[in-house]
Amino acid sequence: MDIISKKNDGQTLSFEEINFMVEGYLGEDIDDNEMSAFLRAVYLNDLESDETIALTRSMLETGKVLDLSDIEGFKIDKHSTGGVGDKLSLIVVPLLAATGVKVPKLSGHALGHTGGTIDKLQAIPGFTTVLTIEQFKYQLKAVGAVIAGQSRDFTPADGKIYALRDRTDTVSSIPLIASSIMSKKLAAGSDGIVLDIKVGSGAFMKDLSDAVKLAETMIEIAKATGIGATAILTNMDEPLGKAIGDSNEVAEAIETLKGKGPVDVRELTLVVGSLMLILAGGARSIDEAKGILSKKLDDGGGLRKFREIIIAQGGDDRVVEDNSLLPMGIDKKIFHKGQAGYLRFKDVEYLGHAYRVLSMDEHGEYRPGAGLNLLKKAGDEVGAGEDLIEIVHSGGDIDLAFSYIDKGIEIVDSPMKEPLIYDIIR
Ligand code: URA
Repeated sequence: MDIISKKNDGQTLSFEEINFMVEGYLGEDIDDNEMSAFLRAVYLNDLESDETIALTRSMLETGKVLDLSDIEGFKIDKHSTGGVGDKLSLIVVPLLAATGVKVPKLSGHALGHTGGTIDKLQAIPGFTTVLTIEQFKYQLKAVGAVIAGQSRDFTPADGKIYALRDRTDTVSSIPLIASSIMSKKLAAGSDGIVLDIKVGSGAFMKDLSDAVKLAETMIEIAKATGIGATAILTNMDEPLGKAIGDSNEVAEAIETLKGKGPVDVRELTLVVGSLMLILAGGARSIDEAKGILSKKLDDGGGLRKFREIIIAQGGDDRVVEDNSLLPMGIDKKIFHKGQAGYLRFKDVEYLGHAYRVLSMDEHGEYRPGAGLNLLKKAGDEVGAGEDLIEIVHSGGDIDLAFSYIDKGIEIVDSPMKEPLIYDIIR
């Protein structure tokens, strides 16, 4: 096919050519083999900025777009490219709404070794993430924030192409990732978005230069499509916070909304939240925004808003006071290492895999209540045999989980700690 040969020759494709591929694939005029060849050509030859924007537009136009224009005020979204222990959406969504900014959020399930906001929220008894467009908009007006699952009606082309990328080993192409994420975000109808791009062994982007390229590509797409965007590059060479798992991450998010919680979770909440508030016009500088948001953490304003979201989405809001209402594994085990020294996360992805192993039963079905609780963070001094990680579970292959954890962490001679935030790109 001409279009595939052109891309294989390194030539630039027009919107019409890219749209022909996307529409054709969705309409089944183009089959899996042809689309695979096209994706491979893109993977090997990359896309120019205009082509990436064209691909995003084409995927966006093949599905529904949420029209929020009848809802007053700036609508702000956030997106994380995925990490281990990343529960930030559970905290910043209510926190921003507590300042009066509207936060409509469409989130996804866990992807690979990384967790998903939808799975975490479903740990709250009764909480539903399946909302009609009318319910979604009603709640956004009434409460100021809503978090629902992504429906297949939005960007169906991305759903189909993503599945094929998975089978053809082309997931890691930066223009394909950027257009996939941004088409879904644009379909959600916000006026602005903060992109939290995770970098490190627990992220999909393992190195900083790829992460910068992804950030720049996504910002170009946002500019071309008329929405505001800021990207922040953050460390995923260590899990975020101390909890890894659905129930325990909800509990940690609630602790943070009570003005407590791990230092890194609070700090990232304040910085990502500040970038959202600045984009929405609610503050001029990070310092000013941090002041506003710290107050909402410490006076319980964010927590009250979280409670309102839980009630509006049918959940049991008593979890805010009593986290024993969250499903919790029945058995606990402790992981330690023989040496003394300083804790270092060698490969965070393995901790994500350890959690996955414990949260699946023998039929591959989800088993609620599993979690890893870090008792030490990177750079902490540890004695020989000291408790490092508490593992909560109700079955699953505990030996495999232990071997994954063992691959994921090491004890080193001197304290090593990466910065939490690498860069902010506007
Ligand atoms: N998340 C997405 O939605 N798409 C990608 O391509 C990668 C991560």
